[in-house]
Amino acid sequence: MALCTDYLIHERSYQRKRRNPDFVGWMDRVNTESHLAAVGEWMAAVPPCRLLELGCGAGDQSLYLAARGFDCVGVDIAPTAVAWAQEKAASEGLAAKFHVGDVLALPFPDASFDHVLDGSCWHCIIGEDRGRFLAEAARVLRPGGTFTTITMINGCKYAGAMEYDAERRIQWMEGFAVRYWTTEAEVLRDAAAAGLEVARSKIRGVSESYPEEILFIDLIL
Ligand SMILES: C[S@@+](CC[C@H](N)C(=O)[O-])C[C@H]1O[C@@H](n2cnc3c(N)ncnc32)[C@H](O)[C@@H]1O
Repeated sequence: MALCTDYLIHERSYQRKRRNPDFVGWMDRVNTESHLAAVGEWMAAVPPCRLLELGCGAGDQSLYLAARGFDCVGVDIAPTAVAWAQEKAASEGLAAKFHVGDVLALPFPDASFDHVLDGSCWHCIIGEDRGRFLAEAARVLRPGGTFTTITMINGCKYAGAMEYDAERRIQWMEGFAVRYWTTEAEVLRDAAAAGLEVARSKIRGVSESYPEEILFIDLIL
């Protein structure tokens, strides 16, 4: 099957999730809370700074970090998710800002952030776009700035209703390639190509109901 992508497929998912009271954003409350605990543990080593979240969705990670002193900006391709994030920021009285935009052509000037956080977005980006994603992250980082990616690796453990191609490590939905499971070796190769060096990394699971292996890695420009 050819690698067709449609990143706006996430908008259709958010429209369904927004109507479902079990969902607080991309995930339900239990999975969101355990994911935020893992993200919070990792981000505790990063001093509060001006931070951009790529693929911020309904804003939970940015809002969690904004409540801990970060000056957060989030960007996501799904308008329903961005509106949801803006509503949460207003109701929680947090100053985080959320924008509709494509991570492959970020609507921000060069060197405008101290830290870029991959909001579990890079594993949604397929094929040659994956290099563009890292190049854009590096472009908006100031020299010496840092980039955290939180990305599924080493193959899908739970495909759910979606078809999984184990040979290409790609998951399909509605005929589109929607997820890519990279490897640590590929991340190191792609980071080097974008001029980023590894600062620290760790592979961990997130929760029993979400069995994927997740690579947390900090890269420095
Ligand atoms: C797995 S979800 C995670 C959302 C959020 N960071 C969270 O933790 O709840 C990945 C997000 O990436 C967004 N996304 C996918 N492709 C994108 C693109 N090309 N540009 C911007 N956002 C994109 C999706 O809309 C989705 O919100």
